[in-house]
Amino acid sequence: MSKQYNVAVVGATGAVGEEILLILDEMDIPVGKLIPLASARSAGNTVEFKGKNVTVLELTETVFDEQQVEIALFSAGGSISEKYAPFAAKAGAVVIDNTSHFRMQEDVPLVVPEVNPEDIRLWKKTGIIANPNCSTIQMVIALKPLDEAYGIRRVDVSTYQATSGAGKTAMEELMNQTRDLLNFDFENTVVEKFPHKIAINVIPQIDKFQDNGFTKEELKMVNETQKIMHKTMQVAATCVRVPVLRGHSESVTVHFDDVVHADEAREILGKAEGVTLEDTPYEGKYPMPLNATGKDDTFVGRIRNDLYDKSILHMWIVADNLRVGAATNAVKIAKKWIEMEGGN
Ligand code: A2P
Repeated sequence: MSKQYNVAVVGATGAVGEEILLILDEMDIPVGKLIPLASARSAGNTVEFKGKNVTVLELTETVFDEQQVEIALFSAGGSISEKYAPFAAKAGAVVIDNTSHFRMQEDVPLVVPEVNPEDIRLWKKTGIIANPNCSTIQMVIALKPLDEAYGIRRVDVSTYQATSGAGKTAMEELMNQTRDLLNFDFENTVVEKFPHKIAINVIPQIDKFQDNGFTKEELKMVNETQKIMHKTMQVAATCVRVPVLRGHSESVTVHFDDVVHADEAREILGKAEGVTLEDTPYEGKYPMPLNATGKDDTFVGRIRNDLYDKSILHMWIVADNLRVGAATNAVKIAKKWIEMEGGN
């Protein structure tokens, strides 16, 4: 029988953790023992894995050693990863971290399996592989095949990001505010997870503003895109939170080195790994968050040449942020790691 792995999911009770449990099963990852970890609040509760209830353990410094964890998928927030990922790595596990904490650390690979799987080999330096920001992942999956074909010079992107990117309680905040609105109690609605009311609103701020006028989320898209694509292309991002539960959308303008025809780009994206082309706009077909929910592909549509400059393409990219932007990418990294390094 092929090797089975002891797999810990840190944040197993959260929005991304729950998806990870489903996808480990869907992708047939050889899980010998599943170890769901969360805070003391959830310890003793159960999560479902492959139709069975598994008891949640408290995340501690020693649990990775005690449970002989070999693969640890972290999705419980940056400060938790900062504190506990080193203990998992020290216990000999490969850490696949969904938070931003280690992403830009030089000796930590930042991986999207469709784009730079070879970087997984660098994991041994720290024991950690970082999962990029959700908005970055879906964008680079669509950009990579176009860059290979034509060479990308610059990208301008505006995002329309769902509330689930900020976790389960943020999704609840949107639902509660919507309920209060319908109950004529919107004045008193609770605002905690976002800087303003998110129901019937659009907020052009995700994370903190920096001195240069961009937010941290926007700069993540710049720095992470360059690191994953091994290229210092220019990127400018405007990240916006919208009252959607699940599925990030992006309006992307791509500047190429030379003239590019939309039809050719469509053909390339139609064949690209991890991409589903949805581009028959005259029939009302283009990517939307509701249709992308629960899917593991990145959807691309509205591909068109610029009216003035034929070396520019405009497109619309949508993906399930909890899957493509987090859990699916993490589990795909685990799968590749097993193929490339797991036998060692
Ligand atoms: P818990 O359910 O015990 O709070 P989300 O991103 O949906 O908000 O989920 C966050 C995840 O991170 C949850 O599984 C949550 O567990 C977990 N988490 C939050 N704080 C801690 C902590 N201090 N230690 C371990 N896990 C934590």
